[in-house]
Amino acid sequence: MKQSAESMVTPFPVATAARDSSDPDIPDYLEKNYWWAYLHPRAVRIFEREWLVNLILWGNFRRLRDLAIAELGYPIEQQVLQVACVYGDFTQRIAAQIGQQGTLDVVDIAPIQLDNLRHKLAPDSTVRLHRQDSARLQFPTASVDAVVLFFLLHEQPEAVRRATLAEALRVVRPGGKVVIVDYHRPRRSNPLRYVMAPILKWLEPFATDLWRHEIADYLPEGAGGCSLGKETYFGGLYQKVVVRVGEGAETLVSAPDAASRF
Ligand SMILES: C[S@@+](CC[C@H](N)C(=O)[O-])C[C@H]1O[C@@H](n2cnc3c(N)ncnc32)[C@H](O)[C@@H]1O
Repeated sequence: MKQSAESMVTPFPVATAARDSSDPDIPDYLEKNYWWAYLHPRAVRIFEREWLVNLILWGNFRRLRDLAIAELGYPIEQQVLQVACVYGDFTQRIAAQIGQQGTLDVVDIAPIQLDNLRHKLAPDSTVRLHRQDSARLQFPTASVDAVVLFFLLHEQPEAVRRATLAEALRVVRPGGKVVIVDYHRPRRSNPLRYVMAPILKWLEPFATDLWRHEIADYLPEGAGGCSLGKETYFGGLYQKVVVRVGEGAETLVSAPDAASRF
């Protein structure tokens, strides 16, 4: 039986909170491939700079952030779940747009990341932080209106990516959506295709999966009843995919790869 999200709220600072046997382990892929970016104490000190995040995304951080947030409406009068922390002001921007009826919960597996996010939020912030694994969310089925996955899926091995998407779809109620922003295969005419291929291969071993496959390929069997819209950006290097849940579509419909927007 899943616990309610409310009961999973972790008292902060998370990094010093006592651990018990129900605490999720840090996944192997994160320890092995991303310790330097997310887990090492120096990681936050180095990467928690918006200009650096923006540089890593070739100057597109704000645009991609705003594209994701725009999917939530303004003001945001929904129950929103952000799965995984993000360096920069992603969560603060969502929080600033939350209306009277809206709520924001954020999940991450790394205590240091949750602790860092807590420090970025106002002391009276209503954002709730949870230490959970995206592949085993502790939120009840159909309990939120929207899930946001911002540059998470490319970091995960296929099995975890599939589980994360299945969990995101499970916790969204009919009529809600999963908003995904992540890497995508750039067009042949985009010079960054040739620059990014070796960089991703070196630093992000699972990322080019998203060059070879559609996000739709990783959705669970039985995701019928969902519809899917996809747009690509910056010569195809990035994509936004919105999966709408329970809108009556028989099968997943992948929109044609619309012209790249910027
Ligand atoms: C959202 S992604 C990367 C976002 C972006 N590159 C940035 O600027 O931060 C990074 C976060 O995902 C978290 N993460 C990775 N695997 C996870 C999992 N299985 N469950 C929950 N959080 C996870 C990491 O701890 C990290 O905080």
